[in-house]
Amino acid sequence: MKSRSSFVCQQCGYEAAQWYGKCPGCGEWNTMVETVKEDRRQKAEGGRQITQVKPLKLSDVKHIEKNRLKSGFSEFDRVVGGGIVPGSVTLLAGDPGIGKSTLLLHILSRIGGLYVSGEESAEQIKLRAKRMGVGGENISVYAETIVENIISVINADKLVVIDSIQTISSDELSGMAGSVGQIRYAAEQFVRFAKTTGIPVIIIGHVTKEGEIAGPKILEHMVDTVLYLEGERYQDARILRTLKNRFGAVEEVGIFEMRENGLLEIANPSEIFLKDRVKNVPGSVVTVIMEGSRPLLIEIQALAVPSQLAIPRRVGNGVDYSRLQLLTAVLQKRLGVPLGTFDIFVNVSGGLKIAEPAADLAVCMAILSSFKNKPVDPKTAAFGEVGLLGEIRGVGYEEMRIKEAKRLGFTLQLTSKTARSLRDIQKLIE
Ligand code: TYD
Ligand code: MG
Repeated sequence: MKSRSSFVCQQCGYEAAQWYGKCPGCGEWNTMVETVKEDRRQKAEGGRQITQVKPLKLSDVKHIEKNRLKSGFSEFDRVVGGGIVPGSVTLLAGDPGIGKSTLLLHILSRIGGLYVSGEESAEQIKLRAKRMGVGGENISVYAETIVENIISVINADKLVVIDSIQTISSDELSGMAGSVGQIRYAAEQFVRFAKTTGIPVIIIGHVTKEGEIAGPKILEHMVDTVLYLEGERYQDARILRTLKNRFGAVEEVGIFEMRENGLLEIANPSEIFLKDRVKNVPGSVVTVIMEGSRPLLIEIQALAVPSQLAIPRRVGNGVDYSRLQLLTAVLQKRLGVPLGTFDIFVNVSGGLKIAEPAADLAVCMAILSSFKNKPVDPKTAAFGEVGLLGEIRGVGYEEMRIKEAKRLGFTLQLTSKTARSLRDIQKLIE
């Protein structure tokens, strides 16, 4: 252990010179985190750190809207609330290989600034830039992992990208890069840096298998904005979401497509989610979900096949597993469809994950269509929540959803207004 660090329980604040799996103070497990002893540090630096920030009259505070930096992607700017706010710290999280580095290299090529990489060499970054057609005259690259070195080289950059927080460490702490203590300490330094200089910092963070941002939750609390880039690795669509935003709404979603030469923003997202659709095949139904403030048409696919197993399989890709079980049970009980001996697979096109019950109706219809081996009219768009009694319930933004369905040529809209229960729907799939 380094003499300047100690281990502090994140639960009760118990401080110890060594790490314990179980906190001697409160008895919690895995709560001890290595921390730099601030008091000693301040003494070494000759007292408290003096920041450049002074109290301001509220009336003199500059309105952030004017100074937001435009990323070159209107999808990105909308998601963050209208552009990148000076002095803000943004965490961009996502699975490895999803396109985080690509997205930020695009943005840097527009705004200009420093790309700090602890993952790749300058040559590797150059290769990516070449592939994307980015010249890089306004981008500096710095392959470094020590937080103090990074902060010392940042000069008058417009934007700083840290790729990724899991590779950054400080010599002040003995823990390895990627440990909770190191991540927290490095993030603290970047937050302080951004707030005192006004230079915005975007930090990349990988996501663990469980979908959590690796490292402590505390990272999410420290930054101003948390963005999430998601999608299926072997499909093209990429969805950028906000989990937290101190400078804008959190419902907005940006949609991109990963191309051979970088990311392309998609202004008309329904088209990309429907582009590979095969019409007149049993098991396919289009639904309308809301992504942020936008309606989005997507295809739900289902496959019902006789099961070889004592307990048949229910596999949902993009739909919630327990929701799928529930809907299957409703189909069984309310319509008498003998799904008890069938395996059921449900897939959402484009690797989207559906969080709202509005897709229930389309899921039920797709299962029914596959089971009966009868296609649903390809001009149908169906949405509505399905209740335990088999009734179809209304969902929010119905008008907007219907308008979008009509715009894209879906002349038959099935909603709680046109069908009251699954029984009404069943007749359409005979
Ligand atoms: P990357 O941005 O390196 O992902 P992350 O930083 O999130 O780990 O993107 C990696 C994947 O994207 C890789 O499999 C290659 C692919 N890719 C393209 O398809 N087109 C491109 O122009 C680029 C740069 C990458
Ligand atoms: Mg990367």
